[in-house]
Amino acid sequence: MDKFVIRGGTPLLGTIRISGAKNAALPAMAAALLTDEPVVLENIPQVRDIETERRLLAAMGAEVELGYGRAHHRTTICAANLSKNPEASYELVKTMRASSLVLGPLVARVGFARVSMPGGCAIGARPIDLHIKGLEKLGAKIVQEHGYIEARATRLKGARYAFDRITVTGTEDILMAAVLAEGETVLENCAREPEVVDLAALLTKMGAQITGAGTSTIRVKGVEKLGGAKHRIIPDRIEAATFLLAGALTGGDLMLTDCEPEHLTYLLSKLEEVGVKVDAGETTMRVMGDAAPLVGCDMSTEEYPGFPTDAQAQYMVLMTQAQGSSIITENIFENRYMHAQELCRMGANIKVEGRRAIVRGKTPLSGAAVLASDLRASASLVLAALVANDETIIDRVYHIDRGYERIEEKLRSVGAQMKRIGEILPRR
Ligand code: EPZ
Repeated sequence: MDKFVIRGGTPLLGTIRISGAKNAALPAMAAALLTDEPVVLENIPQVRDIETERRLLAAMGAEVELGYGRAHHRTTICAANLSKNPEASYELVKTMRASSLVLGPLVARVGFARVSMPGGCAIGARPIDLHIKGLEKLGAKIVQEHGYIEARATRLKGARYAFDRITVTGTEDILMAAVLAEGETVLENCAREPEVVDLAALLTKMGAQITGAGTSTIRVKGVEKLGGAKHRIIPDRIEAATFLLAGALTGGDLMLTDCEPEHLTYLLSKLEEVGVKVDAGETTMRVMGDAAPLVGCDMSTEEYPGFPTDAQAQYMVLMTQAQGSSIITENIFENRYMHAQELCRMGANIKVEGRRAIVRGKTPLSGAAVLASDLRASASLVLAALVANDETIIDRVYHIDRGYERIEEKLRSVGAQMKRIGEILPRR
């Protein structure tokens, strides 16, 4: 298993290009199942989850070309010849919960889907009961047995459905089911994330009739058929947030390009409160760490447009370097503090009490051997290592490779003393 070896203390200076958003690319790839014509997606990030999604779609009979040559990060997907009984196997789903995103498109397109239940996950139970309820509301018959969900429908029928709680992939899944349903669907208490808006933009290019994406209520007029389309995936706002914090923590001067500052409005205002100044342009963000001490500020994760849960672990590292105490409240997932213990082993002062973590700063961090547990917790360990004295070894970095494209190359390009050891990921 690959490890990262990082020597902290170097201010990061230079420019990093932000990759396409994994959490926009995954639903967009699943949307290609809705048509028998080719769908071309650009700005696809070269991360493990995209490869997993490619294998998943190919296993169902879709033709998936995926390339990361210098000129393009592009995939072309053609689902003209889907297998009669398409299945998302446990082997694939257990490595990527977002596989449940094929449920809606498959039931809508071929009237059948067999998808393994995702099972547990490091950050919480993460059930998909709200996806299932939505499909049943649209008329699908669902059977759950032997760890699989089987969904059937001759043709889905539009309905009104309110999510019991806001769910990002739940909104995306049911939106993709509704676009081919007969009649109108009204979805309420929807997720408003930019990734939902990006999916709706792609579906609209394919011929879907959608209004309200990005608000709590989305209306869909079902159509008979969808066509192919070409679409560029939005930038990854969580990757951008992670690198902003890397620049602030190391007292560097980092320019991020190809990003969307407006997707991080709330996070940027929170960073300003802490004392991290970010200059935002149209598609750039510049962070300059300076001598002014950081101030500990409480933060609660919320659904978009609130503070993103996917940046909570990274923010916690910032709080270890801020003066004073701060209370972090994780409102989205029930077990998303796996990184706290590892940070304490590096010298942080963090006390976890249920959904709250109390951070007392400023504490110097020292390098240690630490273990990555989930995607964003691993990113927080990289940030801690960049600011720690001496050397940190992070094991199981495949977690990071799931959602960050060539993170060590990007960080090394701006001066980080960092290397990957162990098996080298096959370059495409
Ligand atoms: C998406 O996960 C993201 N993944 C996650 O990013 C992100 O953390 C999360 O949204 C919240 O923003 C993708 O988009 C692929 P949810 P998702 O459904 O859709 C509960 C990363 O690091 N819930 O919005 O699975 C659930 O348990 C990943 O890139 C139900 O109870 O999250 C959670 O407590 C991690 N029943 C809350 O809702 C359901 O049917 C929000 O989950 C669905 C969700």
